[in-house]
Amino acid sequence: MSRPSLGIQRLHSLEVSVYDAAPWLAYFSQGLGFQQIAVSTGTMMETTGTRRYLLACGDLRLVVQEAVHAGSAVRRYLEKHPEGLSRVNFLVQDVCQTEEQLLERHATPIDHVREEPLGDGRFRQLTIATPLGDVDFGFVDSDASNAGLLPGMEVSAAFDASFNPLGIRSIDHLTANVRTLMPVIAFYEHVMGFTRQWDVAFHTEDIRPGIGSGLKSIAMGDAASGVRIATNEPLRPRFEQSQIQLYVDVNRGPGIQHVAIAVNDLVQAVEHARSSGVQFMLTPPSYYEKLAGRLAAQGVPQLGHAVEELASRGILADGDKSGYLLQAFCQDQAVQFRRPHAGPLFIELIQRCGCQRFGEGNFRALFEAAQKE
Ligand SMILES: [Fe+2]
Repeated sequence: MSRPSLGIQRLHSLEVSVYDAAPWLAYFSQGLGFQQIAVSTGTMMETTGTRRYLLACGDLRLVVQEAVHAGSAVRRYLEKHPEGLSRVNFLVQDVCQTEEQLLERHATPIDHVREEPLGDGRFRQLTIATPLGDVDFGFVDSDASNAGLLPGMEVSAAFDASFNPLGIRSIDHLTANVRTLMPVIAFYEHVMGFTRQWDVAFHTEDIRPGIGSGLKSIAMGDAASGVRIATNEPLRPRFEQSQIQLYVDVNRGPGIQHVAIAVNDLVQAVEHARSSGVQFMLTPPSYYEKLAGRLAAQGVPQLGHAVEELASRGILADGDKSGYLLQAFCQDQAVQFRRPHAGPLFIELIQRCGCQRFGEGNFRALFEAAQKE
């Protein structure tokens, strides 16, 4: 029996904590077509020790924040982790009502509901601790006419909603990596009121005995808003060799591994991003040799894209009877910026053509292809 919705309407914004905002701002604006629309006021910067930049594209809002003095929460985050996603904000109908529900469910608030002026209205937010280490969840609401802005910031450039070179629609899902999954699933179920969407476990021991590794993954979602978060844990044998444990080692704890952004046309989006300097993970050519057969075996209806069209751009495909999806994984930020401390977070671009799964068939297909190479 699922719990009543927390009144979540959609993801409101994501916040990354970084040493140096410049490469992040360049990556998201030049590479992915975001616009930098606001920056912390001098007073806010002095009070919080943090300089925050607000990036926007469509309904997506991303805050890139760097420390300006030692009192900053950003600095405390970076003492423990490389750069990465430190806060997920959910837009809710009424943050006080959400707080009441969260307290009944034994959530752990970090603070009381905070109310701040925003334009012609107010902005309210509540923060809770999560089992994702130092990633906080925020719940926000606002009655301001421009609710896409954030308090304590001044507008630096007018937002042009029509400028969207990658055809970005929304955040499709987030994926977190943890050492153990069940406390996270219990949190989503009992505190957040999420329901289970799908789960998958796979190991490649049978492909390369003694070498293969694996993972287990469960996706949970808020039925009312469609917000979805997948969580991965490592799988034995060779728990320590799992890419999930490797992430947790590099991140020095659990965290958000990737943000999947839905686009209208992935072929066009990849072309644009690549020509703007975004680096994508390479797909072994042999992945495409088996692609048509694999999709047919999964009951995927006719692909609306030629395999060559996908292969030349390194785009992956997966699906089921309901349709298919296309996805492309950008290299992680440490690779993009050629700085190890930029961290293991990466962006996925995804185009859904009927299929609502998460591309889990690609885990194994990619591993098989890499082994064949
Ligand atoms: Fe994903």
